[in-house]
Amino acid sequence: QACSFWHYNNQRGELDEMHWGKHFAACAGKHQSPIDIQKRKVRYNPQLMQLELSGYDGPLQGNFTMTNNGHSVQIDLPPTMRITKGLPSLFTAVQMHLHWGGLDLETSGSEHTVDGMRYFAELHIVHYNSGNYSSFEEAKDKWNGLAVLAFLYVVGSRTCAFLSLVIMYLCFVAFLGQSAKLSSLDVQAMLPENLSHFYRYQGSLTTPPCLENVIWTVFDSPIILSHTQIKLLENTLLDWQNNTLRNDYRHAQPLNDRVVESSFKAKGTKAQHHWLTPCNRN
Ligand SMILES: *[C@@H]1O[C@H](CO)[C@@H](O)[C@H](O)[C@H]1NC(C)=O
Ligand SMILES: *[C@@H]1O[C@H](CO)[C@@H](O)[C@H](O)[C@H]1NC(C)=O
Ligand SMILES: *[C@@H]1O[C@H](CO)[C@@H](O)[C@H](O)[C@H]1NC(C)=O
Ligand SMILES: *[C@@H]1O[C@H](CO)[C@@H](O)[C@H](O)[C@H]1NC(C)=O
Ligand SMILES: [Zn+2]
Repeated sequence: QACSFWHYNNQRGELDEMHWGKHFAACAGKHQSPIDIQKRKVRYNPQLMQLELSGYDGPLQGNFTMTNNGHSVQIDLPPTMRITKGLPSLFTAVQMHLHWGGLDLETSGSEHTVDGMRYFAELHIVHYNSGNYSSFEEAKDKWNGLAVLAFLYVVGSRTCAFLSLVIMYLCFVAFLGQSAKLSSLDVQAMLPENLSHFYRYQGSLTTPPCLENVIWTVFDSPIILSHTQIKLLENTLLDWQNNTLRNDYRHAQPLNDRVVESSFKAKGTKAQHHWLTPCNRN
C-alpha cells in the first residue's frame, strides 16, 4: 500500500472524500460511517451487554509493528486480543489506528461526532469476526465481518503513560511506509476504565472501500490527551507528498433508516465523563 490515490481533502485533484463513491461504490451506500450521534434520537437498549475484552490487559511483550500508511498511524495487534462477549460472535483484534485534526489550527479531528460536536481525536480498534471467518482477509467483505471499537479523545492534564509511548514513537514513522517496532503493548491501559456506556450501530469502514459490514461500538467515556500529545499527533506524520498528515477524518454520513442504540439512558443526561480516570493504569 505504498501510494494509494484517495485522500480526505482535494489536493491537486486526487480522489477526495466527496468522490470516493466514484471508484468505491460502497462509499456512496446508505449505511456509511462515521455518523453524528444525536442523543435525542438514540434508543436505549438494556439488552446491550458490556463487552468482555480478553488479552487486552498488558503489558504484552513482542514486536508490534507501527506503520505510517499515509492516512494514519497503525499498530498491528496480536490475535490473542479478542472480544469474547457482547457481540454476535467472537471477534479478534487486527490493528488500531488514530484519526486527528490540526489543519488550519483546527484541533478537532474525531470521525464520530456527538450532537454535532467533534472531539480532538479518535482511536479505532479493528476486529474481525473470528467465530465465523478464518482471517481478516476472509471476513473483511462478509456480513458482520468486522467490529470496530471507537474511543473519543478530550484534552486534559492527566494523561495515559502508554499513549505517551505511542506518541513518542511517531517520530520513527514520520514518512509514508516507515514502520517501527514496539516491544511492549498495553492497550487496556490506554482505554477508559469504565466501558459500560456506549453507542452501537451498523455501519461501514470510514475509508475506501467503505464496505458496510461493521458493527460499531462508540464509547461514551473519553480518553484524555494532553495538549503536547495532541500537538505531536498533529505535527509529526507526513503523507505521500511529505505534507504534514492532518484532518484524516471522514465527515459524518447520513443515518438514513438506521437507529443508534445505547447501553445507557443517553437522553437528557448530561455526559458523565470520568475526568479523573484517564486510563486504567499509569
Ligand atoms: C523482536 O525482533 C527482534 C529483531 O527482529 C528480535 O531480536 C527480538 O528477539 C524480537 N523480540 C520478540 C519478543 O519477539
Ligand atoms: C456465525 O457464528 C454464530 C455462532 O458463533 C452462528 O450462530 C451463526 O450462524 C454464524 N453465522 C454465519 C453467517 O455463519
Ligand atoms: C460505570 O459507570 C456507570 C455510570 O457512571 C456506573 O453506573 C457503573 O457502576 C460504572 N461501572 C463500574 C464498573 O465502575
Ligand atoms: C520525502 O522526504 C524524504 C526525506 O527527505 C525523501 O527521501 C523523499 O523522497 C521525499 N518524498 C517526496 C514524495 O518528496
Ligand atoms: Zn479509523
